[in-house]
Amino acid sequence: MQHLSARVKGISPSPTLTIDAKTKQMIQEGRDVLNFSAGEPDFDTPVHVKAAAIEAINQGYTKYTPAAGALDLRQAICDKLRRDNGLEYQPNQIVVSNGGKHSLFNVYQTLCDPGDEVILQAPYWVSYPEMIRLVGAVPVIINSTAEQGFKLTPAQIEERLTPRTRAITLNSPSNPTGAVYTPAELEAIARLAVKHDLYIISDEIYEKMVYDGVEQRSIASFGPEVKARTITVNGMSKAFAMTGWRIGYTATEKYIADAMAALQGQTTSNPSSISQKASVAGLHGPADFINRMVGEFKRRRDYIVSRLEALPGIKVNVPKGAFYVFPNVSGLFGKTIRGRKIDSSDTLCQVLLEEALVAVVPGTGFGAPEHVRLSYATSMEKIKSGMDRLGAALAG
Ligand SMILES: Cc1ncc(COP(=O)(O)O)c(C=O)c1O
Repeated sequence: MQHLSARVKGISPSPTLTIDAKTKQMIQEGRDVLNFSAGEPDFDTPVHVKAAAIEAINQGYTKYTPAAGALDLRQAICDKLRRDNGLEYQPNQIVVSNGGKHSLFNVYQTLCDPGDEVILQAPYWVSYPEMIRLVGAVPVIINSTAEQGFKLTPAQIEERLTPRTRAITLNSPSNPTGAVYTPAELEAIARLAVKHDLYIISDEIYEKMVYDGVEQRSIASFGPEVKARTITVNGMSKAFAMTGWRIGYTATEKYIADAMAALQGQTTSNPSSISQKASVAGLHGPADFINRMVGEFKRRRDYIVSRLEALPGIKVNVPKGAFYVFPNVSGLFGKTIRGRKIDSSDTLCQVLLEEALVAVVPGTGFGAPEHVRLSYATSMEKIKSGMDRLGAALAG
């Protein structure tokens, strides 16, 4: 017998991981592919973070910790939330999980019953709709356009509310668009959530990566009635170049944290004790690593945007945060590149990978089929060559 549950049969594989896997395979076969599909900083994990992990191993810190995370890490997260976000939490309101992705899955599991609706903005990060469906809830997808800066208005959200609406998922700065909500825009959504008694799931994993002086604000900071309904999700992956270490966390009311800790206690238990110790060092350590990385991302963003803007058939919306650019490529549909007809962003990405050796992710998996996503978490040199190749491919 070969049986798979209806639940898993409904999952689409992550398109970002799929293109990344194909790219890595081509590179392994010796093909000179320039990879713009990565969802992770190209910087190495800071030395003091690695040293803390080695120390943890040598000290025998290799056993189970409490399922919701070790107390020193939960305290370090509380310190960080106070310092960086102006939020007061106690360690028993923090749950540490195996990456922000796992934190988000725990949140949907904990808050949603089958049939509950979760407001989700498109373009969205590929995993949200899949996770929401996996828990039996329904993603209510609301489209935001480049003209509106890829940001939803409260009116757009209000129109789609029903008695089954449980939560709004927010992701600012956004993967894939790089949009960053202003404090005023966030506050308006917060008021709407209070008015309609909704949870706010605020994925702030790219909070450190903002440019042009825009202000990144935690939505939970708009007063106690907002904080009480907000689940702030964050993690070590992006800000500390620690994608492989798998540490994410949530800050919530205690009753939610208790429920998530119980869920985690019966499923994965604690994330790696070693990664937890490394995270304590990261959160207590100097900010110069992050500042340097973000300065470099800004330089690359400016460059890649200027090159993309010069290409025919491509419309760029300047990203204000994260490390992605998400241009509209529908101007290329109907054209022929290297003898192949382009009818969608999927074929465009396939042709660019196979013919120009440039790996770019189609917007389909992000709910935006007229777009492609390029990550500039790669060296300036590679960005330059990649843009040259792209220019040559589009020129004929
Ligand atoms: C918007 C967003 N949220 C959450 C995550 C999860 O990151 P991790 O599980 O590595 O902490 C990612 C990773 O790509 C992301 O882009």
